[in-house]
Amino acid sequence: MKKRRKRLILLLAIILLLIGGGFLVVKLLPNNTQEKESQTENSPNPQTESTPTPQIEDSSTSQTQEDKVLKEKLAKLENINEKIDYFNMDYLDRYLAYLEKNPTMDKKDIVTRVNIGLDYDYYTHTKTTPYQNKIYILSNKYISMGDYVPNDLEKVSSSCSTGTRLMVKEARVAFENMCNKAKSDGYTIRAMSTYRSYEYQVGLYQRYVDQDGVEEADTYSARPGFSEHQTGLVADIDNGSTVYTQFHTTKEYQWMKDNAYKYGFIERYPKGKENITGYTYESWHYRYVGKEIATYIHEHNITFDEYYVQFIEGKK
Ligand code: DAL
Ligand code: ZN
Repeated sequence: MKKRRKRLILLLAIILLLIGGGFLVVKLLPNNTQEKESQTENSPNPQTESTPTPQIEDSSTSQTQEDKVLKEKLAKLENINEKIDYFNMDYLDRYLAYLEKNPTMDKKDIVTRVNIGLDYDYYTHTKTTPYQNKIYILSNKYISMGDYVPNDLEKVSSSCSTGTRLMVKEARVAFENMCNKAKSDGYTIRAMSTYRSYEYQVGLYQRYVDQDGVEEADTYSARPGFSEHQTGLVADIDNGSTVYTQFHTTKEYQWMKDNAYKYGFIERYPKGKENITGYTYESWHYRYVGKEIATYIHEHNITFDEYYVQFIEGKK
């Protein structure tokens, strides 16, 4: 009797084990299959879509393309960016557009002129000068001074001027030294227009506009806030006997050509440079920039606009 009961218990245990194992198999197997199926349905090609490898390939391909375009653009400019430190990558497309219009121009000149702003119409893209009260302040049709008044304005000696003429101290001293040397060499140099305030230029420019119209006036007169006279570093000169507009016909003009730079002055609007300075030739208008800059400009026959973008802008 005991034996039969033992056998029965053993049988029951085996049946229970079999049922339990079967349940486990049923529970696990169908789920796995489902997962696999759904993966296959929703992601037909999970390898190519979810791994990052293709994305890296895409961006590196477009990077390579960009590099190629940049290389081609720089090659058109003869890789001048490697030779000059005033090349501005932000202006690359402007350089190329300017080159297209001036295909034979030296590449260095392309960069210089675009940096000045000459690819834009006058007064359409103006900046404000960061160099108030510096002897290397540049004033042209792209750089405004607002209504700035320089420090240290002093009266030029009456023996070197007509009426009351003001200049910044350093320029005033240099001008008088130049005037006195000219005198001892037998020449007469007089400052007849020097510092002009913003307000004064308002009236002067308006008079010219009334007389000749805006287009014509702009060729010889600066708009208010853009006249170099406002820097206090300028003197329009004559020789006391010839009208100043004919100064280029005088012996004093030749003396100035040979000596002005030694005192830190330059002829600011020379003949033949009208397309760079933006003004017609003014043989009477001299600008103080200091001896070092004046000597460089004299020796290299360049304008102050060119010197400024090559040696001053962004560096001082
Ligand atoms: N005549 C010069 C350009 C001026 O008006 O400042
Ligand atoms: Zn002048």
